[in-house]
Amino acid sequence: MAATAKSPRVKALVAGNWKMNGLKASRKEVTALAKRLAKGKRASCDVLICPPATLVGLLKEAAKGSKIAIGGQDCHAKPSGAHTGDISAEMLKDAGASHVIVGHSERRADHGETDAVVRAKAEAALRAGLVAIVCVGETEAQRDAGETLTVIGTQLAGSLPDAATAKTVVVAYEPVWAIGTGRTPTADDVAKVHAAIRAALKKRFRGEGEAMRILYGGSVKPSNAAELMAVPNVNGALVGGASLKAEDFYGIIGAYQA
Ligand code: 13P
Repeated sequence: MAATAKSPRVKALVAGNWKMNGLKASRKEVTALAKRLAKGKRASCDVLICPPATLVGLLKEAAKGSKIAIGGQDCHAKPSGAHTGDISAEMLKDAGASHVIVGHSERRADHGETDAVVRAKAEAALRAGLVAIVCVGETEAQRDAGETLTVIGTQLAGSLPDAATAKTVVVAYEPVWAIGTGRTPTADDVAKVHAAIRAALKKRFRGEGEAMRILYGGSVKPSNAAELMAVPNVNGALVGGASLKAEDFYGIIGAYQA
């Protein structure tokens, strides 16, 4: 690796979002990753895999004894009730999850989730004792119109719970146009957005905002991870496609191996 990602105060998190992929047989990817992590150089980051809810219990079991944590991809705002097909934060916690992603752009787009809905889900995560990974990101049209920082600012203000702390909330910046496209912003562009997010977090949450993790997501691969993870205020990655195979995901975690 050309560069080693560093952050003086904030421990990085490399998180995989499996989206709607994975069957019981995918367990082998987690055991393979656990083996690689045990054998390879020590990674200075935390590692998380967010599989479909059907696999949370199974993968928690597979990850036993390793540093791999397991998380959900979404939760309902309520703890229980008449909400067919939904899953609560408490249920994810009960199944072995420690984190949950909320407000992913695919949920915002496919399910019409507003900032208020995302915030309620993040509050549910905190209530259940899960870390909420709150996603924000601009569309290509918004970017072309020069609205990136305004859009991100509005999403942050509306989606983050007032009770957020560095231990309970992680922010993930995922430009919508970079998700699954193989396109990424330049390191300079990522630096600008992450600096603006950091400033907003510090303004609202003071010291907690200074220590809150800000992940970058969108076409992160082993070949670009070191460069992206070395950008100031990038405290890890949220990885889609390249998290499905242990070998690729391990290559991204490599950005944090000394
Ligand atoms: P890709 O890494 O496949 O671009 O997906 C990013 C993402 O949406 C992670 O949540």
